Amino acid sequence: MLKFANSEEEKTFEKVFQVLPDLIKNKCGGYDELYGYKMNPEDKDENTKKFYDEVTAKALIYKLCKATNFNYQETVDRFVEIMKWRSKFNPLSAAFLESHNKELKDVGILTSYPTEESNKKVVTWNLYGQLVKKKHLFKDADKFIRYRIGLMERGLRLLNFTDDTNCFMTQVHDYKGVSVLRMDSDIKKCTKQVIAIFQQYYPELLFAKFFINVPTLLSWVYDLVRAFVDKETMKKFVVLNDGSKLGTYLSSCPKDPYGGKDVNNSLQGENVADVRPTEYALFLLESQNNIDIE
Ligand code: HEM
Repeated sequence: MLKFANSEEEKTFEKVFQVLPDLIKNKCGGYDELYGYKMNPEDKDENTKKFYDEVTAKALIYKLCKATNFNYQETVDRFVEIMKWRSKFNPLSAAFLESHNKELKDVGILTSYPTEESNKKVVTWNLYGQLVKKKHLFKDADKFIRYRIGLMERGLRLLNFTDDTNCFMTQVHDYKGVSVLRMDSDIKKCTKQVIAIFQQYYPELLFAKFFINVPTLLSWVYDLVRAFVDKETMKKFVVLNDGSKLGTYLSSCPKDPYGGKDVNNSLQGENVADVRPTEYALFLLESQNNIDIE
């Protein structure tokens, strides 16, 4: 159930929803996909209209309205920006079709904890500390960004947008191994760009973000990176020097080394490796590439 604080909010939401077919056709170059879901309720095409699910489409539009405090024009503009960006960047391809550097793949983990508290059930882990000496991975910013956005999209696939206990994700950055007092300029560039993409094109999806194993000496990096992040997002950040305290906040995570309740699995053991695209995303990827995906 979508919750509105007052009838004005509901009106704005309905108004945005009404105008979607027109926006998609006339402002988004016909691009009709958000996080793997179809958004146009008035599609007449027999091949694609079956993919439309109104409850999910409404849940996604609700998020955009929320991100702009139910400002009609800002929501509409944001929707158009996001759709245009998706049509150009093709995040579904980054998530489900392209292959990424193994060294990057090894440090990106997705976990799913069905019994965890609301909005901490789906967690993206970035073990960035392990990359501190692998500067080559940040030389080509596009490649890094495609990997990171691919991981984001795969994580979103584990969310259920129609369930308000599980429509946000939690993220963890593990900086174990980082001790240098310099922030490499390539790393900084990639970081800045990824942060900007998340802020512009992935609103209202993050519940909490933990930065763990951050040596006190490196608190200045936090201050530096913070400058790129908006205030609302900042409120979701938690920095922990001691990574084994993470279990206090995220009880389902592995006991070793994060202090959670899972004594049977390592983080790698918990990794959800097989993430499938939505039926609609699969259809889009297959038609764009003229191939069958296994
Ligand atoms: C964001 C990498 C060190 C704090 C990011 C991002 C990357 C990254 C790629 C983009 C967001 C994402 O991928 O989720 C690295 C690497 C580091 C490093 C490779 C060193 C090896 C640090 C340190 C801190 C820090 C020491 C201190 C706490 C942050 C913050 C963000 C961020 C606050 C913003 C997160 C967001 O807006 O989602 N980092 N980082 N980073 N990093 Fe780091």
